[in-house]
Amino acid sequence: AKKVVLTQDASLPEATKIKIRDSVANRNKRVKVSGWVQNLRVQGKDMMFIDLRDGTGYLQCILTGKLCHTFDALTLTIESTVTLYGVISELPAGKTAPDNHELVADYWEVIHKAPGDKEAFGNKLNAEADPSVLLDQRHLVIRSKKQSAVLRVRAQLMKSFRDHFDSRGYTEVTPPCMVQTQVEGGSTLFTLDYYGEPAYLTQSSQLYLETCLPALGDVWCMAESYRAERSHTRRHLSEYTHLEAEMAFLDFNDLLDKIEDLICDTIDRVLAHEPTRRLVEELNPGFKAPSRPFKRMHYSEAIEYLKEHNIAKEDGTFYEFGEDIPEAPERAMTDQIGVPILLTHFPAEIKAFYMKRSKEDPRLTESVDVLMPNVGEIVGGSMRISDYDELMAAYKREELDPTPYYWYIDQRKYGSSEHAGYGLGVERLLAWLCNRYTVRECSLYPRFTGRCQP
Ligand code: 4AD
Repeated sequence: AKKVVLTQDASLPEATKIKIRDSVANRNKRVKVSGWVQNLRVQGKDMMFIDLRDGTGYLQCILTGKLCHTFDALTLTIESTVTLYGVISELPAGKTAPDNHELVADYWEVIHKAPGDKEAFGNKLNAEADPSVLLDQRHLVIRSKKQSAVLRVRAQLMKSFRDHFDSRGYTEVTPPCMVQTQVEGGSTLFTLDYYGEPAYLTQSSQLYLETCLPALGDVWCMAESYRAERSHTRRHLSEYTHLEAEMAFLDFNDLLDKIEDLICDTIDRVLAHEPTRRLVEELNPGFKAPSRPFKRMHYSEAIEYLKEHNIAKEDGTFYEFGEDIPEAPERAMTDQIGVPILLTHFPAEIKAFYMKRSKEDPRLTESVDVLMPNVGEIVGGSMRISDYDELMAAYKREELDPTPYYWYIDQRKYGSSEHAGYGLGVERLLAWLCNRYTVRECSLYPRFTGRCQP
């Protein structure tokens, strides 16, 4: 067979380099587009379709005649990189493609060819034998339409959080990740050797946010938190993105209103961005933004609910007042109720040392978890102890040495105030928004027991 070599037709107008996102605006002009071959279809000897992806969108490209006869055309593989030249034209009635148009190529080049045969991209992702293959190959899996869509919604969600706090007048801060104090109990601490001194990876930036109140007023941050969780669940990561805020001079009801405002306003902002709204619709068809006010429920009512609805422990007995409600029953209840719930007033013994007690019932704390259908808890928050003696008593009760907390304790000496805050698990909110089975799909490279790569 004769070797087919392509040359550009010099009589054609110079091609303008574009990204796929600009292809509607550049219809009927000669353009050049570079990207990855998402998909490849050959129709007979003289026609070939390439679904091109460049990170800004997808473009169907059609190659005909000589363009399909080259060695590169005959050996092209998916995930190869190519540059295509031609004119983007609206499709004739009856044909469909993204944006209802296609690039009719007059010339093209391969930039880099991905392997075929045994090493072919498709074979790398064959997870039938072992689902952990997809986790080992996550660096390739994120190229898929679905997984990249989740990451794209994630980016818009993070921007929307920032816009929310900006519009409400909060200042963003960036607390440290290497710390020498615990926030949420010693059992989930990752320890590290800090120049010979013991230190931890942060579980929560809360205590640092509290120190910012007198300096900056209401503050927020979005940072990684680390939890050495022993359990393998759909919603626990060892490293997760933690959105936290802290506010001064407010009461418990104000706190609940602010959490509701954060969730509703942020989701409204995400959906107001049309390309993201379309991605959410694809991932989670029929998704509706939650309406205010959220259902409010006391912990003690939840205990009653579990009894009344026959949601029991494995041994058949019921959860009693004072016990932590684990993931499974919490989820069963939340899914039955089917709307976001602000679950409040947990007993002090099952909550962290810094939480303020309820005036009406000192066994309880002014604490709240937000529960979402399909995911369960996505937010934890509370009023904080504002009195020095009460805080010192809490350290004693929890058998925590107050020495490394001197800077936190100083907040109760130098201008204390009623204050409150919360932390939201970004991957959990995203799992709810995008209807993912597990938070692992909502993290770029998830970390959990037994996995620290890619
Ligand atoms: O309820 P948590 O432990 O609360 C705190 O850390 C507070 N100090 C926050 C604050 O008031 N500033 O965690 C808050 C949220 C949870 O509701 C959950 O959404 C998420 O963080 N979270 C996790 N997400 C993924 N993997 C884990 N292992 C998580 N642990 C907590």
